[in-house]
Amino acid sequence: MSLDKLDRGLNLEIDALKKEGRSKNRERVITQYIPPKGRFGPRYKLSGSDNEFIRLNSNSYLSLSFHPEVMKAADRATLEFGVGPGAVRFIDGTFTPHVRLEERIAAFVGKPAAKIFNSAYTSNCGLALSITNKKTHWIGDRLNHNSIIRAMRITDIPSANKGIYNHNDMDDLQRCLEEVSPDMERVVVVFDGIFSMRGDYAPISKIVEICKAYDHKFKDGVITVVDDSHGIGAYGKTGRGTPEYAGAWPDIIVGTFGKAFGVNGGFIAGSTTLVEAVRQKADTYIYTNPLSTADCAAATAAIDVCDSPEGLERLVHLGVVTQRFRQGLNDLGLESISGPHPVVPLMMRNTAKTHDLVQYLFEKGVLVVGLTFPVVPKGDETIRFQINACHTNDDIDCVLSLIEKF
Ligand SMILES: Cc1ncc(COP(=O)(O)O)c(C=O)c1O
Repeated sequence: MSLDKLDRGLNLEIDALKKEGRSKNRERVITQYIPPKGRFGPRYKLSGSDNEFIRLNSNSYLSLSFHPEVMKAADRATLEFGVGPGAVRFIDGTFTPHVRLEERIAAFVGKPAAKIFNSAYTSNCGLALSITNKKTHWIGDRLNHNSIIRAMRITDIPSANKGIYNHNDMDDLQRCLEEVSPDMERVVVVFDGIFSMRGDYAPISKIVEICKAYDHKFKDGVITVVDDSHGIGAYGKTGRGTPEYAGAWPDIIVGTFGKAFGVNGGFIAGSTTLVEAVRQKADTYIYTNPLSTADCAAATAAIDVCDSPEGLERLVHLGVVTQRFRQGLNDLGLESISGPHPVVPLMMRNTAKTHDLVQYLFEKGVLVVGLTFPVVPKGDETIRFQINACHTNDDIDCVLSLIEKF
């Protein structure tokens, strides 16, 4: 048997994606990291190019991937425990660094307990599998991340038990709550903390207030869940994320160690019983090897850095360079979506112009992401810039002057 016939079928499907404009670009390969030099932050070499590139497309908001303490922690864990766990968590694949990371992230977000996963993606899937029963109704923001939407599908939640509210529209959230059948016993309201394509944030205090008003109507209450993957570490006065910024804490917090913390992995934080339910019921936790001990030790060290005076300095600097970039776009008369988050969208509102500017910046050594239809609605074409703590004022000024010359 060969794969020839399957390949023919798959090629047709891939071609259809290309025609719809939904296929992914060829992946560029980073071949070298060049540490910061003088007044400039790090640069990267790419396979097939002699240029040195600045990354304005990285989620590594605090720039901790090359932090010496974070790297040392990974090395120490590897030397002590080896490179792989040998089995899933409940078959003696649990090592001290797994437990330490769970305790550290729970304490960091102020919840009694947490469970770690290989990613925030699998965390969302695991959460939905763990807390959904036949009488659970889910409500989510229209712009929620793909992992939340996929979690609903994997969990097989019927459409009658789901509601979608327009992005950040609190009247529409209320409409969704009104529409929940009185037969339902448990309502879960889930939303991104920061919306990664736009850099805007969920009005968490309002969401929590609205949900509280409906809590008495359902046996198990109305539970709020934030996926703060782009907020944790990067947002709020001490990096505790969008809830800290908003001054209101949802019942359950999902997040990643793969963005501001610069490592990898995801987590769910909540009550001790919730976390035990996750351990018992989340297939994406139970039937898969856990993160390496190196990842866990590195993530714990990254949280420690974030939670220290040095972390605060990084956060303050991140705010300064983000503001410098936002102000620069504004001074050039360009349109963005306001807010303090280091995801800074430049609204292009035109597909050809988006492609041209992304290509021009690439040729000048700047890596950014262009978002065009159907990833964003027609007319909302955007270039997403992501500012990181490793960027300097000179880096920002350089990029702004390139944009000005375009
Ligand atoms: C809101 C949200 N959730 C989850 C993820 C996935 O994170 P991870 O890479 O840890 O799976 C992302 C990443 O883009 C995200 O923006």
